Amino acid sequence: MSLTSTNLNNVFPLLSRGKVRDIYEIDSQTLLFVATDRISAYDVIMENGINDKGKILTKLSEFWFNYLPIENHLINKDIFKEYPQLEPYRDQLEDRALLVRKLKLIPLEVIVRGYITGSAWKEYKKSKTVHTIPIEENLVESQEFPTAIFTPSTKAEQGDHDENISPKQAEKLIGKELCDKLSTTAIELYEKAKNYAKTKGIIIADTKFEFGLDDNNNLVLVDEVLTPDSSRFWNAKTYKLGESQDSYDKQFLRDWLTSNKLDGKEGVSMTQEIVDKSRAKYIEAYEQLTGEKWE
Ligand SMILES: Nc1ncnc2c1ncn2[C@@H]1O[C@H](COP(=O)(O)OP(=O)(O)OP(=O)(O)O)[C@@H](O)[C@H]1O
Ligand SMILES: [Mg+2]
Repeated sequence: MSLTSTNLNNVFPLLSRGKVRDIYEIDSQTLLFVATDRISAYDVIMENGINDKGKILTKLSEFWFNYLPIENHLINKDIFKEYPQLEPYRDQLEDRALLVRKLKLIPLEVIVRGYITGSAWKEYKKSKTVHTIPIEENLVESQEFPTAIFTPSTKAEQGDHDENISPKQAEKLIGKELCDKLSTTAIELYEKAKNYAKTKGIIIADTKFEFGLDDNNNLVLVDEVLTPDSSRFWNAKTYKLGESQDSYDKQFLRDWLTSNKLDGKEGVSMTQEIVDKSRAKYIEAYEQLTGEKWE
């Protein structure tokens, strides 16, 4: 069974439902951050979910939060001990709910790209730029950049599309000093994760981080981290220069949607085959990266 939506009967107020997460406000400084099994493709959420997806994303994020040398938003406490009123909802929350610090978010999708693909490849083919940054080298599709680059986008309001912007535009939004710190930090984190993942047979082509600021203006890593939903993972074994790569997790779903002309349509239910294949991919990514077996 998959969990596509939570209902805590207003034990705590629901702050928002994202494409994947249901977020409750515990108090002015604390959120309950619950990853459901919802999956979206082409910006539409499917009617049914991928069983355990939310648990897999939660465990994988926890793995990276531990691995990466930066302050993060996790509050490492047992939610049921801390808030016994959540006990009746254990079925919905166990292994998928985290207590996190409610922080002032920096309003940017902090994207780092190590390989040229997707919208960046499209732009480069047209103008030899990526997010308007001139790229001197001659690159082929899916090639690694000589050095990873910071390619921010705006954080759109719910329902809107995020918009790719240049680092210069990002500076205008948040100030040069913070923007420099953000891009340096994000590239360092990406490089560290990329090098680790390589040793596990996974290429992290790009990823999206989000950051908040604490009371002392320190950068704090928030949201989910280096999951298949926030990153492009490629299988190092099947990686081929000069062509597009299958993304790890959502490829079955995307291919199935397009071949049935369902891409972008609302109210679509995935077949059991698509659910099973997608689930297997999420598990594979988790097991390969962490070296742990999934149950
Ligand atoms: N520590 C935090 N404090 C406040 N907000 C946070 C924190 N960590 C993550 N968030 C926000 O919580 C939301 C996570 O929900 P989810 O991943 O489902 O959203 P999404 O689909 O990525 O985006 P959207 O909210 O646009 O639907 C994001 O909007 C993210 O910015
Ligand atoms: Mg998200």
